[in-house]
Amino acid sequence: MTDSLTIRDNRTGVEYDLPITDGTIRAADLGKIKAEDEAPGLAVYDPGFVNTASCRSAVTYIDGDKGILEYRGYPIEQLAESSNFLEVAYLLIHGELPSQAEHDEWVHQITYHTFVHENVKSFMQGFRYDAHPMGMLMASVGALSTFYPDARNIHDADNRNIQVIRMIAKMPTLGAWSFRHAQGKPYVYPDNDLSYTANFLSMLFKMSESKFDADPRLVKALDTLFILHADHEQNCSANAVRSVGSSQVDPYSAVSAGIGALFGPLHGGANEAVLRMLKRIGTKSEIPAFIEGVKNGNERLMGFGHRVYKNYDPRAKIIKQQALNVFEVTGTNPLLEIALELEKIALEDEYFVKRRLYPNVDFYSGLIYEAFQFPPEMFTVLFAIGRTPGWLAQWLELVQDPEQKIARPKQIYTGARTLDFTPASQRWS
Ligand code: ACO
Repeated sequence: MTDSLTIRDNRTGVEYDLPITDGTIRAADLGKIKAEDEAPGLAVYDPGFVNTASCRSAVTYIDGDKGILEYRGYPIEQLAESSNFLEVAYLLIHGELPSQAEHDEWVHQITYHTFVHENVKSFMQGFRYDAHPMGMLMASVGALSTFYPDARNIHDADNRNIQVIRMIAKMPTLGAWSFRHAQGKPYVYPDNDLSYTANFLSMLFKMSESKFDADPRLVKALDTLFILHADHEQNCSANAVRSVGSSQVDPYSAVSAGIGALFGPLHGGANEAVLRMLKRIGTKSEIPAFIEGVKNGNERLMGFGHRVYKNYDPRAKIIKQQALNVFEVTGTNPLLEIALELEKIALEDEYFVKRRLYPNVDFYSGLIYEAFQFPPEMFTVLFAIGRTPGWLAQWLELVQDPEQKIARPKQIYTGARTLDFTPASQRWS
């Protein structure tokens, strides 16, 4: 077997042999295929990059048919069960698990950098009283580039490292303050005696008590959710970070672009839609009628189906278990019963089986977030905090990859050509 592709251009009768490497051909090789010497080379048309590899990456592996997700080779199930978010963040950023000394230093550094400049607080206070927390998070992360102008020195490894630490450390502070802002509550400063996730809960919910003491089961559940969201290879927001980062801008600007991408309902917002759907169904007895509506094409079963996973999303299984743990503390969410029954029926129904539609990460996460008493606008902020190490791991890979270039896709031009311009004074007279 030869690892090559033979293409015959029927316009010219010329045959080309293109090498196949790692299951791909190089788009630049296609560019050598021309109808005439001076004509532009052949290109691929791929809106949404659904079949285009934009990079080589060693961060995250997904096999959607088998329902496999691995960070740096480690299965997500094992990391969720036995690791914690900061250790997973280290793994994603550094490529391997930390020694005890490396772990302690990493946790110390992240904890030390949780505070932000007081001026960050002042400008966040300037947002409208009802500002969406994702808009506030996106703007404040972007604004960090003005507080750390040295971050533009992206070719220096030490410099990159400190920005990575700062961003992972400050994201919960900015996220929690965005939440407090819309509630009209005072911003809470970090409590560096607490773990990363316990401190986040403190900054979200602390009122007059001297120390906020979250239930460890809630801390574990939220920490696990951060792990599950920490990376998902070349998704829309990772691609946004890489695309903006390819201009060699500082990482705060690049990650801010990722937050913007995540904000959109096609990316980070499906769990909110699941909650709305469950509330609309209302009771178990309404489920059969709802399923019929889905099968007739009148609506979608939100939280089911995935572009990549054609099997049970491995993250959904873990979240389902965490949901049960959280409800032990908060009391059950009546919507859980509807979700469980819906899942049971859908997994047996031929419509869903035939189309390989299984629960995805969002099917249960909204239920957990609601039990924490987060308003739906906060769901995507939680996603963004979890995803930050992934964005940064992708960014680090990008800036150190000699093959990467500024992102600059081609287009197929469909507009007018060579018109003669008549000045407005003549056109309007
Ligand atoms: N409910 C009912 N039918 C569905 C669903 C669903 N949730 N998802 C897909 N289908 C059906 C489609 O109608 C289509 O049927 P057909 O072949 O008879 O026309 C078939 O399954 C294939 O669907 P596509 O839309 O082509 O699949 P695609 O891979 O493009 O879509 C997507 C994936 C967008 C996630 C889709 O499954 C969906 O809309 N799900 C609900 C929304 C959701 O939960 N999104 C969160 C994804 S996870 C995340 O982003 C973090």
